Order: sequence, then C-alpha cells, then structure tokens
Amino acid sequence: MAHNREHWTSRMGFILAAAGSAVGLGNIWRFPYITGENGGGAFLLIYLAMVFSIGLSLLVAELIIGRSTQLDPAGAFKKLAGGAWPLVGYMGILTAFLILSFYCVIAGWTLAYTVKSVTGSILVSDLDQVGSTFNAFITDPLEPVYYTAVFIALTVFVALGGVASGIERAARFLMPALFLILLVLVFRSLTLEGAGEGLAFFLKPDFSKVTWDTLLAALGQAFFSLSLGMGAMITYGSYLNRHDDIATSAVAVTLLDAAVAVLAGLVILPAVFAFGATPSAGPGLTFITLPSIFAQMPLGALFSALFFFLLAIAALTSAVALLEVVIVYFVDEGEANRRKVALIIGVITFALAVPASLSLGIWSGYTIGGKGLLDALDFFTNNITMPLGGLLVAIFVGWTLRRTAVAELVDGSAIAPVLVSAWHFIIRYVAPLAIVLILVNGLGLI
Ligand code: PFF
Repeated sequence: MAHNREHWTSRMGFILAAAGSAVGLGNIWRFPYITGENGGGAFLLIYLAMVFSIGLSLLVAELIIGRSTQLDPAGAFKKLAGGAWPLVGYMGILTAFLILSFYCVIAGWTLAYTVKSVTGSILVSDLDQVGSTFNAFITDPLEPVYYTAVFIALTVFVALGGVASGIERAARFLMPALFLILLVLVFRSLTLEGAGEGLAFFLKPDFSKVTWDTLLAALGQAFFSLSLGMGAMITYGSYLNRHDDIATSAVAVTLLDAAVAVLAGLVILPAVFAFGATPSAGPGLTFITLPSIFAQMPLGALFSALFFFLLAIAALTSAVALLEVVIVYFVDEGEANRRKVALIIGVITFALAVPASLSLGIWSGYTIGGKGLLDALDFFTNNITMPLGGLLVAIFVGWTLRRTAVAELVDGSAIAPVLVSAWHFIIRYVAPLAIVLILVNGLGLI
C-alpha cells in the first residue's frame, strides 16, 4: 500500500531523524572510551577517515535501497532482486531487534544515573567507591530492570506517533536540546584547570600507537555509530520521497554524527586528564570515572544530571530507529496495525531485556560461548551480523544493482560526477574488503 506510506515532512526533518538514529550511546559512551583505549588523536583521525569514506558510502547505499523501494528491509531486497537477497533484510531486522534489547538496558542506566545525579548518590570522589556503587546497581535484580522498562515505554511512546508526528517530531525537539547540552558541557570541560593535557591527547595524533586493531576498532565504531548494517537506514530511507536528495542529506547526517562524537570527546577526555584519571578505563569511563569527576566539581550534580540526561536523549532517538526497523517489517509485509505492532514488540523487547540485564548479576552463571547474555548479544551483533549486513549491502549495491544504483544516487542530487565515481569505487571494492577484515578480526581469526 505504497500510496499510504508516511513520509518525512521536510529534508531537515529527515536529517534530524536520521542523525537521531546515528547519534547515540555509540557517540557519547562508546567513542570516548574507545579513543581513550586506542591512544587518542591518531584514533580520532583514522575514525574520521573511515566515517567519511566507507561509512558515508554505505549510508548512501542503504538510503538508495530504501528510497527506491519504499519498503521495509526484507521487502526492499525482495522487490529489487529476490533470490536469497531478502535474507539480508531479515538478518538486519533480527540484528536491530537484538541490539534494541540490550541497548535499552544500558539506556536504562543513563536514566537511573540522571536521577542519581540529582539525589547525589553517585557523586562520590573515591573511584573505588563509585565503581562498587555502579557494580551494585547493574547487578541488582530489580532496579535496572525498572529503568529499562521506563526507557522501553518512552521508545514505544515515540513510535506510536508514527513517522512524521512521532519520530520526526521527537527528533526536531530532542536533537537541538542534545546539541545545546553538549555545548554547555564542552565549555565546562574545556575551562577546567588542566584541561589542556586531555585536549592534546585527543587532538595530537601519535601514530606510533596505531596497530591493526586500531584500524579495525575505528571501522567497527564507524559502522555502529552511523547505524549501518542492520536495515535502519534502509528503513529511514524508505520514508524519503522518490526524488529527495540522498547525497546532501547523507553528508549532513554524517557530519552531525561525527560532530557529536568529537564534542563528546571534548567533554570527557579533558575532564579525565584534569582530574588525573586514566583515559583507558574502558566502558566504565562514563559510569565510574565521570561521576567521581563530577563529585569534585562545583555544581557537579547539575553537570552530572545534564550529562546523563544527554546520554538518555541520544539513546532514545537511536532506540526509536531500532524499533522502527522491526515495526516497518510487520506493517509493510504483514499489513499490521502500526500501534499494535509497536506495543507488542515493546513487550517482547522487554522480555529479552530482562534476562540481558540479569545476566550481569544473578544470572551471570548462564553463559553462551563463555559470555553472559548481554555480552553475547553485543558480541554476536557487533562482530558478526552487523558487519555481515554491511558487507552484503555493499556487494548488493555495488555488484548487483550497479548502474541502477548510480542512477538512483544522481536522481535528486546535484552531485559532482567525480564523487559519484568515488562512491561507486568505494562501494564495489574498498568497503567489501575493509569489512571482510573487520569480520575476520571480530571473530578472532587474525
Ligand atoms: N548509532 C547508534 C549509536 O551510535 O549509539 C546505535 C544504533 C542506533 C545502531 C540505531 C543502529 C540503529 F538502527
């Protein structure tokens, strides 16, 4: 029923919604600690190079698939090629659902930490103590589950409004709020005494630290951050009008996504150095190192609450995109009622999120391949299905659609022919090769 399909109301609406999907925990939580673990400035440069070459090209490829078919990821591959290709769509939908289930758990923590910033219970300067508070919280059988439920309810609430009045409207309001909070925090961090050292760590490249793993970490992060390889951008592309400009919008989304990652780095790394903490603390950098820093800062409770609220907003617009991938499948393929599907998928997501959350605590004894459920879901999606999805999209667009894809890209965009050729070259050769390397590395084969 293509004639009934909802569309974005304007180019800006699409850019904000797609940027909302891209900007998430990946930018603010994951990017700064991965940069910290990978030596700082050199990682930043390599990351940006990957984002603007392979990442941007793949984003364009997914938008082309969505816009040209006006269908969900599985339906899109069916319409364009048939054969075994729809499996790529199904794998994307499954990946989005699995990511959603554990993404909501971590997003729940950000809601909890917003509340706990206000009550002050996490603002303790002693690192060991903040660490044990965090550990006690995430292993608790009830509290994080409660926040996960609240977060899923918020996500479903946005989805109930539909594409224009739900997703786009939320993004129009939340994305500017996110930028504003981020700028306040960048200002706070850069004006701390001793911020210069962190700034140098983040911005001065030291290539002696670069290894094969650095390159692969950068590419994997670029994928996750731009929401690639799981049908999300195919889905958002399917709500574009047939001749909307893909190239310009894709560049805008990529710029916004990279900007938020860089700004998040500018918030976190200078503060970490100013307070003599270590940048390579891993996933705990946000939930352990930062609260101890906020505890030592004037008005720390306010900045802490702002920071975790910022993370919650970023996570919400991303979770909405993940949920939308599943919703659009049932609406397009099963002609189901959108609101009913949103509610049912919300409940099913919660049913998987609960064991994922408990896998960090009372159910940590149940493992899959040596990992608890949350870690296993993260590993399986990030290291296997997401890169595989990206690889197959690149091969599909570069080798199966070929000239048709080029015609789609030019339709609606005044893009220079040399850029079109560069895109085609990246999609056909560079992206597949690079992704095979991530896959092989992610599986621990090299
Ligand atoms: N790009 C999001 C982030 O960086 O946190 C994660 C994500 C959101 C991936 C939505 C996929 C997606 F569909």
